[in-house]
Amino acid sequence: MAPPPQLPEPAEAFAARAVPSSTTFKPNILAGKVVFCTGGGSGICYRIVEVLLAHGATAAIMGRKADRLSAAAKQLSESTRRKCIATPGDVRKYDDVEKAVDATVKEFGRLDMVVCGAAGNFLAPIEGISPNGFKTVQEIDLLGTYHTVKATLEHLKRSHGSYVHISATLHYTAIPWQAAPSAAKAGVDALSNSIAVEFGPFGIRSNCIAPGMIQGTEGADRLTPKGAEDLVVSRIPTQRMGQKDDIANAALFLFSDAGNYINGTQIVVDGGAKHFPGPWLPYPDSSLDKQGVKELVMGSKL
Ligand code: COA
Repeated sequence: MAPPPQLPEPAEAFAARAVPSSTTFKPNILAGKVVFCTGGGSGICYRIVEVLLAHGATAAIMGRKADRLSAAAKQLSESTRRKCIATPGDVRKYDDVEKAVDATVKEFGRLDMVVCGAAGNFLAPIEGISPNGFKTVQEIDLLGTYHTVKATLEHLKRSHGSYVHISATLHYTAIPWQAAPSAAKAGVDALSNSIAVEFGPFGIRSNCIAPGMIQGTEGADRLTPKGAEDLVVSRIPTQRMGQKDDIANAALFLFSDAGNYINGTQIVVDGGAKHFPGPWLPYPDSSLDKQGVKELVMGSKL
């Protein structure tokens, strides 16, 4: 009898599946289009912008730290040979966002795609977060998204453009010490749906991407309890961490003509993790003995 076929190790089977967008999409599908991205100076949003540039777009990125942002814009221009400018500012301040959007349209003459990606997060229990701490997360994530939408709508009406908001899966259940970002991202989802309905008749689409654990990001580092790195991967059905390319591919698809009937939805890119509880902070210890678990958290102020 023939021996049973050898199954690949799960990690091997899935490791190859984070494909670069260049192997899937034509290189010119965004030719002539302009993207404005908040939070584009680092992390997931940096990679999204890089991929959009590599498919023919030009770009402006917005972030708080002017030096870091200029360096990122330069690096993006060099890696893609497409123009990317830095438009520094704080999404919490409407005037900053309006100025950044004006500078983008002055530079490129139009605006087609907007990525609302600026976010702030830290792990803290409801009792351990100050009113200002809670407010800060809402102001960056939710108010910042509203500011960006408000400042770009007229331009997107003209171009029949599209929004992609970077949301999360946190609020689909409830995760200890994540009340502030959960509330903020639930608001982002709701805002995106409202934009889809109110501005669909103007030819504008609005969607969210909800990333899972994405390797090499501050978000994943902060959310992973110390010592639980292997456990994190074992709880992800695809048995691998997400890559920034996984999220960039989803954004590229949504912005492309192939996505033009997708409006008012949340695309979850998490390897199936939302269906399975993650290795979050020990429960109920994280509620009953906060001091006892604070060592597991990066940057805890408890
Ligand atoms: N636990 C509890 N409260 C915290 C905290 C933590 N780990 N980190 C910040 N806060 C509180 C501060 O104490 C402050 O409240 P207070 O005035 O009552 O003391 C409030 O949040 C604002 O903090 P501050 O550092 O002054 O604000 P900031 O505008 O400089 O930065 C963040 C705010 C959220 C951006 C900051 O925490 C940060 O840099 N986070 C890392 C970057 C990040 O979040 N990336 C995204 C990952 S998904």
